[in-house]
Amino acid sequence: MAGILVIHGPNLDLLGSREPGIYGHIELAEINGKLTEKAQKAKVKIKIFQSNHEGEIVALIGRHKKSVDVLIINPAAYTHTSVAIRDAILATEIPTIEVHLSNIYAREEFRRQSLIAPVARGTISGFGEQSYYLALDAAFEMIKKK
Ligand code: DQA
Repeated sequence: MAGILVIHGPNLDLLGSREPGIYGHIELAEINGKLTEKAQKAKVKIKIFQSNHEGEIVALIGRHKKSVDVLIINPAAYTHTSVAIRDAILATEIPTIEVHLSNIYAREEFRRQSLIAPVARGTISGFGEQSYYLALDAAFEMIKKK
């Protein structure tokens, strides 16, 4: 049984107090709790990490090369800058779902480009915490179809 790897990028540890007008009042621990509960119900293994460091995220993806079926990642600010995270996804060939709480296409110009989107199976952006649960449902379907 392989399972799902969830990675939250920089500043997502501050959810709850961070720009609540954009990201809402929910804390990361609550999102993680709901993801874990849903995965347990579906009998799918899930591992969740948060990191503020690009290299750590790259290493995490690399380390799970053969051991996960799907990566759900909110690369946060690295979405718009990280060739290294994009390359890690390409190198490991882990099917990836990109997630954003906010609609990155309806915000500042610099957020409208994602370096991750072209190497992801799909992107879910703009539904707040629901973006993660929609991504989890998509991951369950991808696992079923394997
Ligand atoms: C984000 C959007 C990014 O542009 C931003 O840097 C984040 C969060 C989101 O979930 O909406 O940190 O990925």
